[in-house]
Amino acid sequence: MQYTWNDVERHVAACTLCPLSQTRCRPVMGRGNLQADIMLIAEAPGGQEDRQGIPFVGKSGELLDSLLRECGLDRKELYITNILKCHPPGNRDPKEEEKEACFPYLKYETFLLKPKIIVCLGRVAAQRIISPDFKITREHGSWICRKNCALTATYHPSAILRDPSKYEDAKRDFLEIAKKRTALNS
Ligand code: URA
Repeated sequence: MQYTWNDVERHVAACTLCPLSQTRCRPVMGRGNLQADIMLIAEAPGGQEDRQGIPFVGKSGELLDSLLRECGLDRKELYITNILKCHPPGNRDPKEEEKEACFPYLKYETFLLKPKIIVCLGRVAAQRIISPDFKITREHGSWICRKNCALTATYHPSAILRDPSKYEDAKRDFLEIAKKRTALNS
């Protein structure tokens, strides 16, 4: 049977596959343009995202929006999601079993969207999606190709908030992402 976006959203909304379902306010399904050619994948919803049920609505979302804008990109033309759909208490790192339980939702999102470019935001996403030993400081901005999709990673907006000197590197990465999209669409 072929799942639709509505099916995935319904399953995420009712999910009890891991204990985070008992502590979350709301699960946070990915959001954005369902025709997007760029998919951003981050780690897990923060506290504000947990309360609103929308990815990147807090301070890191504001930073992400301005970074995108500076690079000629707009959240409205992208699809943004997380490895985990539920908020880990205290913003701790996702546990292995939580990532595994949640991964099928991300697979369905990727299957339905069929992005040309996947951008991992931060170490947790890059290590789950690109390679378990991915080093974000050394390897951000590098590209691999998998199943007709170009994959890269850059800093997580929260890491840039903690260390603003990372902003320029992330900006360079997003400028390359914008260029790659133009090249893939021409
Ligand atoms: N941090 C994340 O990794 N994802 C969000 O949706 C918000 C903050």
